[in-house]
Amino acid sequence: MTKTKMNIGIDRISFFTPQHHMELSELADQHDIDINKYHIGLKQFSMAVPSPEEDIVTMAANASYRVIQGVDPESIDMLLLATESSIDQSKSAGIYVHRLLELPENCRVLEFKQACYGATGALQLAMSHVRENPESKVLVIASDVARYQRDTAAEATQGGAAVAMLVSANPRMIVLEQATGVYTRDVMDFWRPNYLSEPIVDGKYSCEVYLQALECTWQQYCKKTGDSIEDFYAFCFHVPFSKMMFKALSRLEEMEAISDEQKARLHKLGETAVGYNKIVGNCYTASLYLSLVSLLENSPRNLTGKKIGLYSYGSGCTAEFFSGRVMFGYEKHLLVDQHLNMLKKRDALKYKDYLRFHDAYIGVAKGAGHELGVFERNRYLFKGVDNHKRIYEVNENVYDF
Ligand code: CAA
Repeated sequence: MTKTKMNIGIDRISFFTPQHHMELSELADQHDIDINKYHIGLKQFSMAVPSPEEDIVTMAANASYRVIQGVDPESIDMLLLATESSIDQSKSAGIYVHRLLELPENCRVLEFKQACYGATGALQLAMSHVRENPESKVLVIASDVARYQRDTAAEATQGGAAVAMLVSANPRMIVLEQATGVYTRDVMDFWRPNYLSEPIVDGKYSCEVYLQALECTWQQYCKKTGDSIEDFYAFCFHVPFSKMMFKALSRLEEMEAISDEQKARLHKLGETAVGYNKIVGNCYTASLYLSLVSLLENSPRNLTGKKIGLYSYGSGCTAEFFSGRVMFGYEKHLLVDQHLNMLKKRDALKYKDYLRFHDAYIGVAKGAGHELGVFERNRYLFKGVDNHKRIYEVNENVYDF
């Protein structure tokens, strides 16, 4: 019996990033570093800095709120939240999000971890679930606060955001192809033991492994599909800092013959694909998907029917290369105005306030509360810790943020 192939993929996608950011010129001034190192060397301009009222749960709920508008909540029977900045060793952060979004009780909730790769693993599981249950919708959320020790080379690559995606059959935005290339190897390039609040990172080595894993996943993907670089209109990569995206693109170009015309297009669209990442900073497992939103929302040409290559890398490491095709009419479901408005409304922090937020975050991670009611502009808020329980609230008056 022949089986008809079912289209599965991303039906809707949205992101949320904190209300504050710091220009990297502040950091450069403070550390007496030539700003070109950040603007040209890393291709980064500013970084999101979560306030004490924001964490992976509130960012996840705020991003998801936009994605589930107009969707029957009963159809969402799975919520997968991927993060490497988890707030609890046992309870899944997604359970708080499930309550805040008022999702049905017969909904399976799980937390996913494999560094910046986590959301891609979650997306693959969501696709399998929908393949078996075509009526189901799965909410996949990538939510991370990227924090490093102060006064280190990695400090300029901090940031934070959540991306929420609704995965379904017959998606309105992107159909994801089933064939992928996967790679896993035990390496110590970036890790965070339970007793540390910031990761340990072997920065240069991590960039090397990222590129080696790209080669392996790409070769495997091409072997399975018969595709070559010429089959792709654009690429989105994991973006720990925006320059890495161009290093990845160059690595692919070294591996295959490519016309000058296509090379020029890929680099131009590469700039589009890191538009949001450049000003949000790293957001670990959300960063590939933030790049995808940036490409979809800011591409100068309509992307209908175009094939997009996607590369996900999670230190440690697991990586995957996969692809998607953009659906006719996708542009009607973009949330460009909301996203641009959110970015426009962000407040710029001075260095001394950045330090305050940085320290408050460590305090909360150790179980302390925080000063309440200072930054209430989001719909979903973290109100502090009481008797070791995290308190989240809905700001019902805020529905356009
Ligand atoms: N003008 C222009 N460019 C300048 C410059 C100046 N004045 N000064 C330096 N640069 C350039 C350098 O030439 C270099 O460019 P290339 O990489 O193209 O050679 C770039 O700026 C970076 O400078 P350094 O080589 O001196 O590197 P650094 O010591 O500042 O560290 C880093 C950079 C290793 C990426 C560091 O920021 C870091 O450790 N980041 C965190 C780890 C990371 O992001 N790894 C990525 C792969 S792992 C991953 O992807 C998972 C994840 O999310 C973390």
